[in-house]
Amino acid sequence: MIIPAEQTSTATSREALDLLLALVGDYCEYGWQRDDGFSFVALAGDQVAAAAIGLPLAPGDRAHINRAIRNNHLDLRQPAALELAHTLREQQPTGELFALAVAPEFRGQGLAKALISARLTAFQDAGFQLAIAESWINPAGGQSAPLYRSLGFTEMVAAPGYWADERTESNHATKGCPSCGPLCKCAAILFGKDLTC
Ligand SMILES: CC(C)(COP(=O)(O)OP(=O)(O)OC[C@H]1O[C@@H](n2cnc3c(N)ncnc32)[C@H](O)[C@@H]1OP(=O)(O)O)[C@@H](O)C(=O)NCCC(=O)NCCS
Ligand SMILES: [Zn+2]
Repeated sequence: MIIPAEQTSTATSREALDLLLALVGDYCEYGWQRDDGFSFVALAGDQVAAAAIGLPLAPGDRAHINRAIRNNHLDLRQPAALELAHTLREQQPTGELFALAVAPEFRGQGLAKALISARLTAFQDAGFQLAIAESWINPAGGQSAPLYRSLGFTEMVAAPGYWADERTESNHATKGCPSCGPLCKCAAILFGKDLTC
């Protein structure tokens, strides 16, 4: 059963946040506490099986993405990627798939997909025209790229150093990367989905 985080008990919400902190990173705390967020919990009975955070794309993050586009840090050779970059630069209201964690014993059952769909629907209901997700490319990091690919997201590959000039509060780079230290030099893939069709 998938329910909006704000409809869960304090204990369940805490359990869901703990799952995100353990499997994704400290920066989830910031996203989970936001009152303009789109967070969801998947419950199996009383147990938290998975949790996800969606956020309105922050101006600082949008500026960062636009800077990456300007600095040719993103591979825009595919027509769909170029179109996505244009949409981002037009400042359309955008939702960010910020974090997602499925407890190991519940993986491979479609929960990640279901939590992505729940957030996309919530973004659409809020009038967002686009959804994006940044996949961090690091052996120590998440495994989200295959997921967004299998859901038909458009893909823009970002050069190493994608986060090197990151100064926002919302990214793992601010707390340091497990591989690179305070200044993350990892590559990323930026995924996007048009929500208007
Ligand atoms: C990545 C993660 C969220 C996937 O959860 P899940 O519930 O097992 O995923 P689903 O069952 O919904 O799978 C959805 C699709 O992604 C694919 N997929 C999921 N994890 C994959 C992986 N590690 N490698 C390759 N493909 C994967 C599945 O094959 C499936 O594709 P299909 O429907 O075309 O067969 C989960 O492994 C996890 O929480 N990992 C640790 C935290 C993390 O990496 N979070 C993402 C970054 S914030
Ligand atoms: Zn790094």
